Formats: sequence, structure tokens, C-alpha cells
Amino acid sequence: MKVENNQIYFGNESAARLVEQFGSPLYVYEYDILVRQYERLKNAFKDSTPSILFACKANSNIEILKILKRLGAGIDAVSPGEIFLALHAGFKPEQILLTGTNLTRDDIIYTVENNIIINIDNVSMLEENGDLFTGRDVSIRLNPDIHSGGHTYLDTGHRDSKFGILHKDFSKIIGLLKRHNANLVGLHQHIGSEITAADSLLDSMDKLLEAALAYESISFIDIGGGYKVKYHEDDTETDIDDIGTRISERFNDFCQKNERNLRLIIEPGKFLVSESGYLLTAVQSIKRNEEKVMVGTDTGMNHLIRPALYQAYHEIINASNVSGDNNEKVEIVGNMCESADVLGKDRQITVPGIGDVLCIKNAGSYGYSMASMYNARMLPAEVLIQGGRPPRLIRRRQIFDDLFFLTSD
Ligand code: LLP
Repeated sequence: MKVENNQIYFGNESAARLVEQFGSPLYVYEYDILVRQYERLKNAFKDSTPSILFACKANSNIEILKILKRLGAGIDAVSPGEIFLALHAGFKPEQILLTGTNLTRDDIIYTVENNIIINIDNVSMLEENGDLFTGRDVSIRLNPDIHSGGHTYLDTGHRDSKFGILHKDFSKIIGLLKRHNANLVGLHQHIGSEITAADSLLDSMDKLLEAALAYESISFIDIGGGYKVKYHEDDTETDIDDIGTRISERFNDFCQKNERNLRLIIEPGKFLVSESGYLLTAVQSIKRNEEKVMVGTDTGMNHLIRPALYQAYHEIINASNVSGDNNEKVEIVGNMCESADVLGKDRQITVPGIGDVLCIKNAGSYGYSMASMYNARMLPAEVLIQGGRPPRLIRRRQIFDDLFFLTSD
């Protein structure tokens, strides 16, 4: 993204022109940023060369998956649907891990029949379905009982979280694995998203390593994802070089000291794709109430739920008039019939005219992938910008026919 002639451009196309060509609202992804983030991560962890499994819940567009595959990533999947997409994108079963919660028997059957290892999340899963794991490799998701993550909804590694097996239940799980002749090959954790304190990640990794000591069959530990990006200029992002160096050092020391040849796995989602994505939306109304100016758009919490769900801040720019004279504080709202449908509060931007295009930043992760068809609004198109090439449509906008799957006949 760049600013030229007071407008936002992606490659050679202005945001306004992209919207003219592909319609509004529109998700836009920049290839170069994806590559940059992948390389940053790889470089930060260069001393331990982990397998980087992209948490594709952050963005499951198949063309994005293919790009990450070419860069060398594998996939952290959460459901059979994500496995299906990953296989379709060309990932091999051994490049995929499933970390699902409350999986059904059918979910497990689909996964193991595709020779994909599951991170077992709870005791009941083995009590009910242990027979499906006979003779198979499995991994266990441990809950280290550590608070982390930037918002209560993003804090997943503490004792009251629904995720993972508490250390007190570890021996029970081992017993069940033995009874069913399953082979424990890995230990997993994911303690939260938007982690900025390296210590919580190091402390919980120590717990995984300690647990791995007793089991020669364990060949990998997977420390999850959770690296934070900047949502605005003054925001903090995870110091990826610091975290990468410290984790690598601690991990290598452990392997050396205990003569273990373990593989390290990390599962970043947001860090890889957030900054590469933008949501463009055309302004439909300007409402001047007593106290505030409200800018109404043709998208909303249906397409980007993060502001409504986590009170998340996403920078919003008037892409058609980046810095005009009539700069005011406005509230940017969507077209859903919900009062929570606010994309940005108190934003100082050039007050748009009707038809101006707004650009919402950091929409590449948990944007489209968390979008819904609420209010029977169509899901937007997605476009990839790669160098000087013409923008490429990587998912078409939905049409009315797509609404039929919501009906019973
Ligand atoms: N591994 C597991 C098992 C996960 O559950 C997740 C995210 C990740 C890896 C990747 O986490 P990341 O690096 O993207 O933080 N929708 C929220 C984030 C929830 C993430 C859920 N699990 C958001 O928009 O901030």
C-alpha cells in the first residue's frame, strides 16, 4: 500500500479503481507483505529452524495457502474443512496438524484416515474414541495454566480455559493412550493470541519440555502461535527477533543437555497475514447528529467482526482523499442492523463524500475467515496484488444463488 496523489494505491491500482473493477466491499491482499512477514519469522527463529505451521483459521483463502506453501509453511488446522482445503492446496498430510476442540467421531475419522496427527484436547475424546487411534501417532495439547494473550477472549492457556489438558490429567491420558496402543509423538500448547511477553511463552514451553523428558517416543513439541502485530502506529508488536532468539536458545539448550533430537513447531496465524490484508468499503451516508458525525459504509461486523467482538482497533483511512482539508473526528459504522456494528470510533480522517472508498487495515487475519452472511449480505470478493501484475481475483463475490444454501429446500 502506498499513498500517491492523495490516494491509496495497491501496486499500480488505486483503491477506488479496484472497487470500480471488483465491486465494494473488497478484501485486498499484498503478496509482498506476506513474503516479508514469513521471512521475518523464519529469520527470527533461524537458530532452531522450526516447522512453521500456518494457523489457517486466520485466513483460509486457498490462494493464500498456496503462497505460504511455496514459502515453506505447513498447516495448523482446526477442522476437517480446513484439512480439506489444505490438502486441496497441495499440502502433504505430514505437513498438517489438527488442533480441534470438541471434535466429533466423524471429525476424528476424517483426520486419521487422511494420516494427519491430532493434538488431543481433552480426556473424553480418548475415552469415547480411543479405538480410532490404535496403532496411530498422536500428540497431546497441554494446558500450562498460564495467563497470556491480549484480550480475555484471546487467553487460552489457563486452567479455566476450555482448551487443552491440565498437567494433573496427563497421566490419565498416558494410560488411555497405552490402553489403545497409540503412540505419543508430540506435545502441544497454544497459550493465546497477541502475546507480547516472551516470558509466558518461555515458561509454558519449559513445561512442555519437562513433560517430554519422560517419553522417548516424543519427537516434536509445538508451542502454538500468538505473535502480535501493530494495529496502529503507536501499538506494540511482539518483538519477534527477541522471542525467536530466546525460544531457540532455550529449546536448543534443552535438546543438547538431554541428548534429545526434537523438532520445534510454531503455529503463527495473525503475524503472517494480518498486515497483508485490507478491507475496502464505499461510503454510503454521512449523518450529522448533535454530538457526532457518522460515516456509513457498505460493510460491517459481518465482514470484519474484530472491532465488535474484541473492541479491536483497526486503522481506517479515507483512501480516496487521504489528507484533505476537512479533517474531523468521525464514527465509522456498518450496514448491519446491530448497534455493535461500529468499525471505528473517534477517527480523525478526511470527512468522506458519498462513494469515497475507505481502507481498513490489518484485515488479513480473522477478517474474511470470521465473516458471516448475517442480514443475508453477500461475502465480498478477494483480490491479490503481486508486483506489477494485474490484480488477481482469488475469490469471487457471493451472489444471490449462494443464499439458497441457507434455505431448507
Ligand atoms: N494455534 C492454535 C491452536 C490456535 O488456536 C490459534 C489461534 C493459533 C495457533 C494462531 O494464533 P495467532 O498467531 O493467529 O494469534 N480471532 C482472534 C484470534 C483467535 C485465535 C484463535 N486461535 C483475533 O482476531 O484476534
